[in-house]
Amino acid sequence: MIITVEKAISLLKSGEIVAIPTETVYGLAALATDESAVQKIFTAKNRPANNPLICHFASIDQILEFTVLRPELMALTEFWPGPLTLLLPLKDKFSKLSKTVTAGSERLGVRIPNHELTLSILKQAYPLAAPSANISGRTSSVTAANVEQQLADRISGVVDGGKSSTGLESTVLLPIKDKELKILRPGMITSEMLIEKGFKIAPDSNLEFTLSSDDKVGLLSPGLLPVHYRPKVPLILLKRVPGKIQQTVNRYAKENSSKRICLLWYEDFELNSTELTVIRLSSAKSNLQARYLELASNLYASLLEYEKDFEELVIIEPEDQATGVAINDRLKRAASRYIESL
Ligand code: TXA
Ligand code: MG
Repeated sequence: MIITVEKAISLLKSGEIVAIPTETVYGLAALATDESAVQKIFTAKNRPANNPLICHFASIDQILEFTVLRPELMALTEFWPGPLTLLLPLKDKFSKLSKTVTAGSERLGVRIPNHELTLSILKQAYPLAAPSANISGRTSSVTAANVEQQLADRISGVVDGGKSSTGLESTVLLPIKDKELKILRPGMITSEMLIEKGFKIAPDSNLEFTLSSDDKVGLLSPGLLPVHYRPKVPLILLKRVPGKIQQTVNRYAKENSSKRICLLWYEDFELNSTELTVIRLSSAKSNLQARYLELASNLYASLLEYEKDFEELVIIEPEDQATGVAINDRLKRAASRYIESL
């Protein structure tokens, strides 16, 4: 059910859960100070209880009521409102927050989302604990219809704020010491952008900082990637072999000609295939960075759309640069198979 901002505020204040739009993906929100409301999020999503929730705020002042932000980290606030989550130490061990929000951790994930409707909700109801609005393990939602496709009968309503503009979840950063950060989840705020602001990025090897045991498996062993962001039908990720993309697709199509396959396409040249359906997720005319931004913004909605009509979805892995890093991170987890050679 689509609800207004006013209705969302009153439902949240009375302990209900509602989906809210953000520029990254839709969130499934509860008032973070209300333990029983927060519990409803875990139930609705089938989310494991050990997976902490990000809290959303309307301003830095609101964030500073709950967490400590070292002066060296202040420059990061220039990315807010925006697709950046910081894991900051909680100010007070006896904070008003529901304990389930941090899953026992002494750090809280905080973010100011860049969406007018949600900021107006947050001015009156904060902090809002909000994981992505999807069933755990499934594709995140970037429209109100995506939310309803997955959660309609499990939540009290959705605020329709149009399609999320960036389309991938926020970059999650763990500040380590001084100006050193660890990227726990890549996103639109890239390591290049952080380095430009004078920050240092810790290498991936420091796994004790990694979030959940699932994520640890994902980083340690790419063959055992956790199930995440998955469409209902298999997504096949084909290795990028420069100069041989058309050939790779032809071979895959030929070997799987009995299946109804949809290829999600985003390169700057046209692909010819009589055996599979090619759907463009970004314009052929733009440069790589612009194409990848468009791909990111269309990816989840396309997975949720084409899982309805096809037996299998196929995509070539993007280049591992700029926005491609975050897209690859999601695709590696969403794919049920990664094919290196054909
Ligand atoms: O863009 C986003 O971040 C979206 C929108 C709705 O804001 N939210 C989102 O939430 O993606 P979720 O729960 O789907 O992903 C949050 C990630 C999870 O991997 C979670 O384990 C981690 O951040 N996380 C949250 N709080 C944490 C904490 N206190 N310590 C460690 N990891 C945390
Ligand atoms: Mg999620």
